Order: sequence, then structure tokens, then C-alpha cells
Amino acid sequence: MASLTIRKLDEHVKTYLRLRSAKNRRSVEEEVRVILRELIEGREEPLTPFAAPPAPSSAPTLQRTGAAPEASVTLIIGGGIAAYKSLDLIRRLKERRVEVRCVLTKAAQQFVTPLAVSALSHERVYTDLFDPQSEFDAGHIRLARDCDLIVVAPATADLMAKIANGHADDLASAILLATNRKVLLAPAMNPLMWNNAATRRNVTQLQRDGLVLIGPNSGEMAEAGEAGVGRMSEAIEIANAAERLLRPPVPKPLAGKRVLITAGPTHEPIDPVRYIANRSSGKQGFAIAAAAQAAGAEVILVSGPVDLDDPQGVTVKHVESARQMLEQVQAALPADIAIFAAAVADWRVANEGEQKLKKTSAGMPPLQLVENPDILATISKLTDKRPPLVIGFAAETEHLIDNAKSKLARKGCDWIVANDVSPATGVMGGDRNTVHLISRKNGEIAVDSWPVMTKEQVAIELVAHIAKSATDKSREPAS
Ligand code: C5P
Repeated sequence: MASLTIRKLDEHVKTYLRLRSAKNRRSVEEEVRVILRELIEGREEPLTPFAAPPAPSSAPTLQRTGAAPEASVTLIIGGGIAAYKSLDLIRRLKERRVEVRCVLTKAAQQFVTPLAVSALSHERVYTDLFDPQSEFDAGHIRLARDCDLIVVAPATADLMAKIANGHADDLASAILLATNRKVLLAPAMNPLMWNNAATRRNVTQLQRDGLVLIGPNSGEMAEAGEAGVGRMSEAIEIANAAERLLRPPVPKPLAGKRVLITAGPTHEPIDPVRYIANRSSGKQGFAIAAAAQAAGAEVILVSGPVDLDDPQGVTVKHVESARQMLEQVQAALPADIAIFAAAVADWRVANEGEQKLKKTSAGMPPLQLVENPDILATISKLTDKRPPLVIGFAAETEHLIDNAKSKLARKGCDWIVANDVSPATGVMGGDRNTVHLISRKNGEIAVDSWPVMTKEQVAIELVAHIAKSATDKSREPAS
């Protein structure tokens, strides 16, 4: 029977074995025996040799291995010495919840084996254009299109020349010609090849065609004594570049802005157990807080009693009464934008009972009401810390636009979001809202009526209007 010399195995296979055996506290020989036994017994233990190392702080934090993939990449491995780095690249992409299907050119198989690539990607590896197993359903077309991104690493001078000139005489080049996905190239070649006029022409053409390049870096070459530009980028750099293409950064138009929001009803105590309230659910104000936070703002939400979870990343101050709400709003100033979506009780009980009021033969105890502070009007009329943009809400059951217009003048705010809260609309406590944005434009009052939307969509739209107005203001010439 033949014996196996571990020393003679490929370097990456040895690394794999060393790490896996260390993890399982076995000798390398024992680990090989276990792997063979598992293979023969058909046990499906995936070849996960080692846990993902902690991500460097610059890397995106999506490192839950085993979680469902969120994107997929076709990775074409070209034939260059840098192909060994592509094994690490597979791992780096999988750490970022990217599913990886690999294609090896003929030359690539001189540097890495399909077995190693398949073990790391947990997928079959594709090598031939005329592979009956995959071509029965036009395999190269699927590899070209059933993915979100194609990464070529290493992209050799030859492979780049082929792509630039539209060749399709092997699986890798056929995929690259047939794709309508973004393509990321990680070039790797000798500095003389990189600087050759033909490669320069090809690089210019590829960039003109919309392909994205990462690297090459400069440094030592595999060829002894040679150095210069041509080293393939490190796996982590390529994975980060792929992630930027797969998940482009979300715009943060309110970054650096402090947004103060009120939401929900207020509870005005009658005695220690009873209170006056209204039907506000707080959903619209909470949705605005979440949308402003997603747009990059620092958000302080002052909320009356609601049955909602605090939005993530938002500072929430929970209050009960209108007076407590005003106190928290004042404490949260200064702010760049203030949005008053709370349904604040206009009245509170002046003679609040210290003990629970008793039923007496004298009939119902008289409740004396006094007016609550108007938070919106108070903040709108500040001279010192008035936020540059103050937005109020007008929940009306009749004469919606007229009432909202007069509210804009009376309260002194900049915009009013008016909505019809008649019981038939289902707005109070419901998930949808039909709103009209009332603002002042060149001395006139403008009414912008939006179609019926979910409260989340209303919030996103309102935040977009706020962001636009902030940009327009910043473009106004200083007076
Ligand atoms: O006068 P009305 O209650 O209809 O005004 C509604 C607007 O005024 C909303 O923006 C609401 O949050 C705000 N408001 C307030 N304090 C009050 C009453 C209303 O901030 N006491």
C-alpha cells in the first residue's frame, strides 16, 4: 500500500492541515486519517479548517460565518503565482456573507488545485467551457449572470488582453464576454509586463469599458531580485473592494445634523391612577426618528407613552405629560432640525388628585382644566436657541389645509405636515398616512400633497425634503 508524505503536499494543503489539526488538537497524520475516514463514511462535515480571524477594525463587521449569504460572486482565478492568495480571498468573501463560485483557468490549475478551491468555497469548481455536466444548461451563461459581481484574481496580463479584445476561447473569457454584471480585476504580473505598452492599452480599454481595477501594488516579485508595480493586492483589499461594489455606501444626507423629534400622546394625570390621553400611537414620529437616523443624523426622540420599541441608534427620552415633554425638549437644544409629531394634550387637570378620587353621592368631582404649554409654539418663538428648521404637525378632522395654513402662522414654525385623522381614514393608530406639506416659499404658502403612503414612506420622504432644504440653504449666498 502507498504511503503519503505530508511534507510533499502543496503548501496550501499543508497550511490547511496544520490549522485544522491544531484546532482539533490532533497530529497532522491523525487529522488526515480522520478526513479520509469521514470521506469514506460519507459524513458531511464541511471542510472548515479554522474559525474566521477577528476582522481588522477597517473591515466591515459582517463576520457571522454560517449566516445566509447576502450576495454572490463568481471568482475567476487566473494562472499566476498570486493564485495562492485567492484561496484566502474565498475565505474573506465568505466571512462577508458572500457566496463564492470559482472558475479556474487552465494555467491557474498549475498553481492551485480545484480540490483546495472547492474545499474552501464549499462549491463545485468550474474549469472547462465544454463541460457536459454544466453546459447542458448553458453553464457559462449562468456563471456570468447568476451572481452579483465577477472578481478576477489574479487577473494576468493574458487574461486582461483577452477581456479587452473580447475573446471567448475558454470558460473564463467566455464568462467575461457573456456577463452583464460588474467586473472587478485584481491584476498580478511582472512589472515589465504591467508597464508594457500593450498592457497599458488594455488597462485603458478595460477601464473605459467600465471594469474596476484594484491594485496592483508595488513590492517584491516572486522572481528573485525583482521588484516594482505588479504584485496582486492582498486578499483583504480585494474583498473590501468587492464589498464596496456589492454594497455601495448608503448616502447620509443628514450626517452632522442634530434632529429633535417629539412623538406619541401625552398622559395628563387626573389622580394617581387616571389620566387624560388620546389615540396617538407614536408610529409616525418613531418612523421619522428611524429615517433621520438612517440618513446619518444624531436623533433625540422625546416620546410620550407608546407601545413601540425604541428605534436603533436613537436617544429616546420617555415622558408622560406635556410639561415633562417640554422640559426634555428644552434640555435637548440646540438642534438643527426640530420635528413636533407628538399629539400633545392641549389641557391638563388643574386640581390633580393626590389620592384616587372617590365616587360620592355628590356626583362627579368637577375637573378644572388648564392649558398646557404649546411646545411647538414655544420652540418656534425662541430667539436664542431656535432650531433653523422647525416642523409641526396638524392632525385635523375638517378643513385640513385651511386649518394647517393658519397653524403655520399661529405657531411660527417653518413647515406643517397636515394629515386628515377622521376616523374613516384609519390614520390614528394605523400604518398609512396621507399628508400635505405646507411651507413658505417666496412669501407665499405652498401646499405639496403626497399620495397615500405607509408611515415609513412618509418619514423617508420628509427626511429627503429636509435634506434637500439643508443642501439648498448651504448653497444660498451668505447675506
Ligand atoms: O394645536 P395643535 O395641537 O393642533 O397643533 C399640533 C402641532 O403642535 C403638533 O406639531 C404638535 O406636536 C404641536 N403641539 C405641541 N404642544 C402642544 C400642542 C401641540 O407641541 N401643547
